[in-house]
Amino acid sequence: MPNRTRWIVIVAGTGLAIVAIVVAFLIIDADTADTPVVAATPTPSSTDDGFVALTPFQARVLGFDVLDEVDLPEDNPFSQAKADLGRLLFFDPRLSANSSISCASCHQPAQGWADGLPLSFGYAGSVHWRNTPTVINSAFHPKQGWDGKALRLDIQAQGAMKSAVAQNVGPVMAEERLRQIPEYVKRFEEVFGPGGPWFDDASRAIAVFESTIISTNVPFDRFMEGDESALSDSAKRGFKLFTTTAGCSACHRGRLFTDEDFHGLGVPAPADFSEDPVRQITFRYEVRARGVTEDVYRAATDDPGLYLVTKVDTDYGQFRTPMLRELGQTAPYMHNGAFATLEEVIDFYDRGGGESPNLDPLISPLGLSSQDKADLVAFLESLTGDSIIIEKPELPPYEVIQ
Ligand code: HEC
Ligand code: HEC
Repeated sequence: MPNRTRWIVIVAGTGLAIVAIVVAFLIIDADTADTPVVAATPTPSSTDDGFVALTPFQARVLGFDVLDEVDLPEDNPFSQAKADLGRLLFFDPRLSANSSISCASCHQPAQGWADGLPLSFGYAGSVHWRNTPTVINSAFHPKQGWDGKALRLDIQAQGAMKSAVAQNVGPVMAEERLRQIPEYVKRFEEVFGPGGPWFDDASRAIAVFESTIISTNVPFDRFMEGDESALSDSAKRGFKLFTTTAGCSACHRGRLFTDEDFHGLGVPAPADFSEDPVRQITFRYEVRARGVTEDVYRAATDDPGLYLVTKVDTDYGQFRTPMLRELGQTAPYMHNGAFATLEEVIDFYDRGGGESPNLDPLISPLGLSSQDKADLVAFLESLTGDSIIIEKPELPPYEVIQ
């Protein structure tokens, strides 16, 4: 985005956020005013100490909601046969150069469809440079990745297969492998028609499979659907802080708790990023492969984030606001896994973030009490649903096909 437009967007965005917070306060105040001093029957949302929680209705006014149906792109509609094929491909390591690593090696169902590591391990002989985000709910995101580089799930899957630090396989090699697996030839033909299997179709099937991996049984969603007992009092206090004094909802809003925009928080690089030479090789490779100037290549010491996509100076060190659903399954946190726990994340915000020339104007010290911090953590934990376990399917074998 050009600088001027960017500032207009920031100012407009901040304006909207302030209006939303003011509206919230008005609603909350109106509620408080309506609460009689000696209440015969306490309202369901108020707690013993007189605290008045946000109601599901107020939360909806602020733009929070449960997840509904995924909108798949028109050229890649859902079919059960496509999702079933995508499930096999998601678990199939033959879509990596040395047949050792599949999507599921890094996006492991039992690890919240991430890997539990600060920084991903990456393709054999290299290590990855970023933290693995979950693929749960990824079909709801209009952008993928910490710098929002891919705008579609199938394009993201193609990138993962081709990336030198993920699966490192060329599309032609991937296609030749799929064509020597009779079961795949049959399934691709059923789903996409004759002539394949094609690499692009493989990515479409994977995307449709991913669109079936969606949060279930989330306490916050049960609350939004009217069961106010689904959130503890602490989580309710945390939610109110989140939308008011702690200012989190300025960036984390909507049904996925993200504005899908980019911000600089100055998250410090972990030692592993700065001191591991193999990690540095990946980092320098990524920076160069994405076409920055010689000066930037020489000077870069930390992940430039959005800058690698836009090459705009003010985007340096900005990352896409992540979804906050499923945090209970996806530690460690941030683009570089700098924080192991949600408590560490909250302490970081409380300090006013880290150091960055492009530190977001919405980030400043919060002065939270230890109770406030515990309440925010309780609220964030209420956004986590059941684990979604899908066993590795039995993969169809190779056979020579003439
Ligand atoms: C070596 C580990 C690894 C493998 C293999 C891998 N991924 Fe990832 N995945 C990552 C990392 C790390 C990121 C973050 C990359 C970035 O932001 O630059 C990511 C990002 C994603 C995202 C974006 C999620 C979001 O919210 O931003 C999706 C979706 C995804 N991967 C799906 C896949 C699929 C599908 C495959 C298989 C075709 C795959 N991944 C293979 C590690 C891996
Ligand atoms: C200015 C926008 C902004 C505000 C305000 C903000 N965040 Fe964030 N949040 C982000 C961005 C951007 C990231 C990713 C930063 C990175 O990886 O470098 C993030 C990351 C996170 C993460 C890590 C998620 C993950 O999967 O790794 C959590 C948890 C979080 N924020 C919670 C909060 C809470 C709680 C508040 C309020 C105290 C808050 N955020 C305020 C933009 C914001």
